[in-house]
Amino acid sequence: MGSLWTVCLILASLASAALCANPRRPVDVQFGRNYVPTWAFDHIKYFNGGSEIQLHLDKYTGTGFQSKGSYLFGHFSMYIKMVPGDSAGTVTAFYLSSQNAEHDEIDFEFLGNRTGQPYILQTNVFTGGKGDREQRIYLWFDPTKAYHRYSILWNLYQIVFFVDDVPIRVFKNSKDLGVKFPFDQPMKIYNSLWNADDWATRGGLEKTDWSKAPFIAAYKGFHIDGCEASVNAKFCESQGKRWWDQPEFRDLDAAQWQRLKWVRQKFTIYNYCTDRKRYPQLPPECRRDGDI
Ligand SMILES: *[C@@H]1O[C@H](CO)[C@@H](O)[C@H](O)[C@H]1NC(C)=O
Repeated sequence: MGSLWTVCLILASLASAALCANPRRPVDVQFGRNYVPTWAFDHIKYFNGGSEIQLHLDKYTGTGFQSKGSYLFGHFSMYIKMVPGDSAGTVTAFYLSSQNAEHDEIDFEFLGNRTGQPYILQTNVFTGGKGDREQRIYLWFDPTKAYHRYSILWNLYQIVFFVDDVPIRVFKNSKDLGVKFPFDQPMKIYNSLWNADDWATRGGLEKTDWSKAPFIAAYKGFHIDGCEASVNAKFCESQGKRWWDQPEFRDLDAAQWQRLKWVRQKFTIYNYCTDRKRYPQLPPECRRDGDI
């Protein structure tokens, strides 16, 4: 990253700013370029020519949207402003998922709360149909006040979850330890807002207050930076040649490990890797987690 930036800064000073966008900094495009509604089309509202949208949840239905294309590896991000005020019982999700029965999935799930109480960010990784790898954190900001960028870096070496530029979770490729890693099933990107008051808030104790409906989450920045592949493809044309395949993205750098450690120490609520009741034997991939 360092050297690329240096080149970029030099280029920028030569007034070629367009060439110089940080590859990880997505540009804003219109919703319709990359996405289509998944269900309840009338619960999606469009603004600024489709460069910003809202998902509405009411007692009749939630709603969601998905990428038109399927992707094998890349960097996927979404700017989201979570449901403000009383959002207890609601879940706002941003995830990648393959279509098959033994599916791969990479999840961000934002669990709402009563006014003034903190959201929980839950992440999970499914490989070959097996999940049960939940981690939960509190955020270090109020996610309802402004847009924040949530992103997933996925290459052959690792899956990294970022909140803005802070890595909050890493799932290393631990194929050598017998753990499946997503590598040959293209995934689509999904976003949705729905009612999950049977489990989401304080384990289901806090119910959705429908008198506060509609619940509204806002989205922008519909750029997708991935290798597009047909749904049944087993590999990607430009495999190994894209920016996210390069050596500096195969592991976190020292500063990123520091930040991840900070998140773990200060904001972790739950980590399956340290749940000895549920997993008396440490799940193999957890050994790759750095300091756990
Ligand atoms: C909601 O607030 C309560 C009380 O502060 C907290 O225990 C809980 O973790 C918060 N988040 C969710 C999603 O339940």
